[in-house]
Amino acid sequence: MGKVELEFSLDEAGVARYAVKYGGKPVVLASRLGFVLKDDSGLSGGFVLRGVDRKEVDETWQPVWGEVKDIRNHYAEMTVHLAGGSGKLIDIQFRVFEDGVGFRYEFPRQAGLKYFIVGDELTQFRMAGDHKTFWIPGDYDTNEYPYTTSALSAVDNRSMVAASTAIAVRVAPDPYAVQTPLMMKTADGLYLNIHEAALVDYPAMQLHVDRGTLTLSASLVPDAVGNKAYLHAPCHTPWRTIIVSDKAADILASKMILNLNEPSKLAHTDWIHPMKFVGVWWEMQTGKSTWSYSDFADSLSASGRGSGDSLSASGRGNGDSLSAAGSLIPNGRHGANTANVERYIDFAARNHIGGVLVEGWNVGWEDWFGNWKENVFDFVTPYPDFDIRAITAYAASKGVQLIMHNETSGSVTNYERQMDTAFRFMTARGYHAVKTGYVGRIIPRGEHHDGQWMVEHYVRVAAAAARYHVMLDAHEPVRPTGLQRTYPNWLACEAARGNEYNAFSDGNLPEHETILPFGRLMGGPMDYTPGIFKLRGYSTVAGRQVHTTLAKQLALYVTLYSPLQMAADLPENYEAHMDAFEWIRGVPVDWDDTKILEAEPGDYLTIARKGKGSENWYLGAIADENARTMKVSLGFLDKGRRYKATVYKDGAGADWKTNPEAYTIEAMEVNSGSELVVRLAPGGGCAVSFVAM
Ligand code: NOJ
Ligand code: CA
Repeated sequence: MGKVELEFSLDEAGVARYAVKYGGKPVVLASRLGFVLKDDSGLSGGFVLRGVDRKEVDETWQPVWGEVKDIRNHYAEMTVHLAGGSGKLIDIQFRVFEDGVGFRYEFPRQAGLKYFIVGDELTQFRMAGDHKTFWIPGDYDTNEYPYTTSALSAVDNRSMVAASTAIAVRVAPDPYAVQTPLMMKTADGLYLNIHEAALVDYPAMQLHVDRGTLTLSASLVPDAVGNKAYLHAPCHTPWRTIIVSDKAADILASKMILNLNEPSKLAHTDWIHPMKFVGVWWEMQTGKSTWSYSDFADSLSASGRGSGDSLSASGRGNGDSLSAAGSLIPNGRHGANTANVERYIDFAARNHIGGVLVEGWNVGWEDWFGNWKENVFDFVTPYPDFDIRAITAYAASKGVQLIMHNETSGSVTNYERQMDTAFRFMTARGYHAVKTGYVGRIIPRGEHHDGQWMVEHYVRVAAAAARYHVMLDAHEPVRPTGLQRTYPNWLACEAARGNEYNAFSDGNLPEHETILPFGRLMGGPMDYTPGIFKLRGYSTVAGRQVHTTLAKQLALYVTLYSPLQMAADLPENYEAHMDAFEWIRGVPVDWDDTKILEAEPGDYLTIARKGKGSENWYLGAIADENARTMKVSLGFLDKGRRYKATVYKDGAGADWKTNPEAYTIEAMEVNSGSELVVRLAPGGGCAVSFVAM
């Protein structure tokens, strides 16, 4: 298909291999395919070819929301039907696109294979060189590491895992394992990205790097007893994806992962509305206020004392006198109090921000994670200073949507039991979006965030949310694989190192946001929480700073795509810079078109997007730690139209480290023949709105 070529082969021992080339250059050298099953290895080799089916598909579909209005799905498909050494049947379905290859294994209905346990998947990706690689450790429980850029042969995650003490749970037993999406660049200028699509009913695939042979091997996240997956034929695995181009921009523009996912399962989607939101959130991240109402779970007031363990789960949510309400000693710093929440609602209403997220509204935060405790939250009992009735009425009167927060602290059995109650509770009060969270070790104990059991859980939550007409933003889930096509109410995930690490750790390097789109975002939108304006001096810990300029925070609204996009800073910090906030007010979160204008992972990125149903364009450009001059033609603008461009850029002397808050705003008239030249500061950026005149 175009420059992409796929070859499948069986050798004399019946070992199955595939190879991929781009423009004649090797991308994946002949690499192993197959399985080791728990009770026999008949699917690892000794394969016999039973037949081959081929077809070609060329269709165009429209996502419910997205980066572009129309998506072309054009591929050549080849399915090879194999019988394994023990007579078991397996098919391998390959789809070759103009920008890469996807393949998956299918286990057809057959007498000799019904219920089975996967011991190992043998898929490999043999690289043709020691590529420059942008990687994070292959951790079973988290994707919240900073990226390391190194030669493939130099991958060793031990020092990174050991140093990342700000991440709550780290389980990375293989020093040479990395997560996908894995971005690489070859010495002769090819860009490759390996990931997976449509991860359901199966564990996440990490990659073990053999540093000598430059071979990547699928490494499936195990369950509590060391098995990989429990399957029941007929069934299939997720797609393994290899996206390739000689232009970095094509990697970002690829729609292959979405194309490999199933169409929407939702009959009605008119209730799904991408939006921006503010939240009672950064103030807790930075230490100004707390999620918890009290400082200690056992600090009961006189009336609460002596009445037994009023904080046990059984005492919560039952409406009995032992609930936490009134029995905790307030610490006086609880963020989710009625007056403070109404302040955020006012700010949102004044500035056309659709939603307000409130974290720390429900009881349980005194000991929310770290104890591997099962019954922590109940998702329906507010703290006594959070007047949910008044807040709900106030938000409604101001036309603002409240966003529910369901932190599970990893106790997923607890959430599963209460999920329907939680959804009924929120929808009865007009909340149509929820942010979930999975900080902490998983319960069922021994399961991992990225194993099959949890993968099924995340999908169950998305499906349940859809039944209640609730939009979902999951924090700390497995990284996305394009399932937002199938569940378009699953608007965003975190599943990466967000802006929050600038609040509670040493933070994110200025290059971080130039790598994220080539890494984590290849699978789907990210709730990165951009928009910090007070870039230093915001934390109760001295010396903390965001590693970008203010103008770069603005640019992230375009370069880090998400249909749910937070304006993460405090209202008072926005009110100090309302001229710059004008950009956040206006920038859309849903798009008809996207043009990747300049891109190099780890260095810089410039993207222009056209608002959904609008004539206006928006551009974001970001730099790493090095200053650069962005020079782009505005040929993407509609021919023959004039636009009022407002350029929000780094001010004189701006620098992420020494002078991050210097910005200037300039207005000019432009058209599709114009060129835009803007200097980006070290760690800087620029944001431009083009409003049709
Ligand atoms: C981690 C999430 O990423 C963050 O956004 C949230 O505030 C905390 N967990 C508490 O749920
Ligand atoms: Ca997080």
